[in-house]
Amino acid sequence: MSIMSRINEFLAKASRLILGGGREALESQRRKGKLTVRERLDVLLDPGTFLETDLFVEHSASDFGMHSKMLAGDGVVTGIGRVDHRPVAVFAQDFSVAGGSLGRAHASKITKVMDASRDMLIPLIGINDSGGARIQEGVDSLCGYGEIFYRNTLLSGVVPQISVILGPCAGGAVYSPALTDFVFVVDRISNMFITGPQVIKTVLGEEISPEELGGARTHSAITGNAHFFADNEEDSFEQVRNLLSYLPSSSREDPPVTAPKPPKAALTRDVIPEDRRRAYCVRDVIRGIVDSSEFLEVHEHFARNIFTGFARLEGRTVGIVANQPRVLAGVLDVDASDKAARFIRFCDAFRIPLITLVDTPGYLPGVNQEHMGVIRHGAKILYAYSEATVPKLTVIMRKAYGGAYIAMCSRHLGANFVVAWPTAEIAVMGPEGAANIIFRREIEESSDPEATRREKVAEYEEKFANPYVAASKGYVDTILIPEQTREALVRILETARVPDSGRMPRRHGNIPL
Ligand code: HXC
Repeated sequence: MSIMSRINEFLAKASRLILGGGREALESQRRKGKLTVRERLDVLLDPGTFLETDLFVEHSASDFGMHSKMLAGDGVVTGIGRVDHRPVAVFAQDFSVAGGSLGRAHASKITKVMDASRDMLIPLIGINDSGGARIQEGVDSLCGYGEIFYRNTLLSGVVPQISVILGPCAGGAVYSPALTDFVFVVDRISNMFITGPQVIKTVLGEEISPEELGGARTHSAITGNAHFFADNEEDSFEQVRNLLSYLPSSSREDPPVTAPKPPKAALTRDVIPEDRRRAYCVRDVIRGIVDSSEFLEVHEHFARNIFTGFARLEGRTVGIVANQPRVLAGVLDVDASDKAARFIRFCDAFRIPLITLVDTPGYLPGVNQEHMGVIRHGAKILYAYSEATVPKLTVIMRKAYGGAYIAMCSRHLGANFVVAWPTAEIAVMGPEGAANIIFRREIEESSDPEATRREKVAEYEEKFANPYVAASKGYVDTILIPEQTREALVRILETARVPDSGRMPRRHGNIPL
């Protein structure tokens, strides 16, 4: 065969494989409002940077001949590309080929890029659009999932792992994303469930739509399985690119540094309302502190009583954890604890300093929370902050009561620097509750109990609910007015360093997050 014939043969084979399940299947994908697998890679990656691997891998014969069709690339596209000039390893499942189901060869292609991501120390991005374990391949497809989960676990904390859910992901197809750092979903496109509505109806007799059971809104707002919600696929990929701009390529390096930019809106001293019971939005505080007043919120729609997100201070990435007084007064509860703890651990693993903004009345009391395990979940925040060895800077803005004072990165959990504003109230409990307990007799015996109660509340406020008692003991390092906060945080971060390793040598701790 001549050289030209060989080249033409190769081009013909490649263009057939690139069509995946064929023109009709790709059209069907488009009719569902979805991009095709290759369009997705074009939108995600810098133009012309995708280097595909294993296009010619063939479907393995382990399905006892049950698949008569050719399965192009065995239903997944894999390779290396770039995002904002930085290399990433990527796999994208092709629903046009056997529903993106995962068979032996499909799994081997994925584990190969996972190994490349480990060896090259670059982020791993998975685009998931799959019916789960390929039924015809039986135990071989289960083996494939096991090998992926194993690698997800080994890569955790080594390179950032990102999952974009762009289809009906069922069974094994959802556990791998759950083991990654960030899950992106798209409205009316993404579905995630262990067993779908049909199985639920058969087994339990319950009827529910796929959207309600495991749609993008459900996983963003209710379950917390998804960290980022987008209206369409393009928007979702733009969010992935934005997220990567804050992150290092691996835990061996520091996050990228950009040109410093002052906040667009500076913090003013009236940011905390005069009436200490009034709510405000903690995002306004964050905007007044961080570069360009810009941040990327993680888990925006889940456990909104706590804020988690990335921002920059003088060009350096920081992770921000902040109580949100506008939602449930900023209490800590089961979901807020899970959300914060997971974020703290990610930042610690990837050398991202933590800034904690505190204004919380405490852990949420109640039978429901107790029975949902607020003790077990709440402990995760204590664990995550205590374990973290990145620089930890805390700003106590207003309420810091009881266990929540300790939990929100107090000096006692290893904060490197604690700032309090003059409006800080650091005490075992709020003035009203405390006065009713410790001055109960005086209030009851008073001729005007209501006036005595008010007087005692004021007395308590003056004596205890302020930053000065904690500052007098060195638990607070400095008291500043809000407009001095950014400058102080920048100066501390300039001198803070990230240790190379975590805490005591041991096999590992035992708190699941
Ligand atoms: C083999 C599959 C498949 C699967 C879909 N297909 N899922 N083939 N194994 N798991 C094939 C279909 O046969 C069809 O092939 C093509 O993909 C498109 O599927 P449709 O059903 O036509 O598409 P749609 O109507 O959009 O429905 C998509 C779906 C549905 C919701 C994903 O196919 C579905 O419910 N699949 C099964 C999901 C599931 O229960 N997975 C769990 C597997 S067990 P043709 O040839 O007609 O185009 C598992 C355990 C792992 O994952 C556990 C690890 C811990």
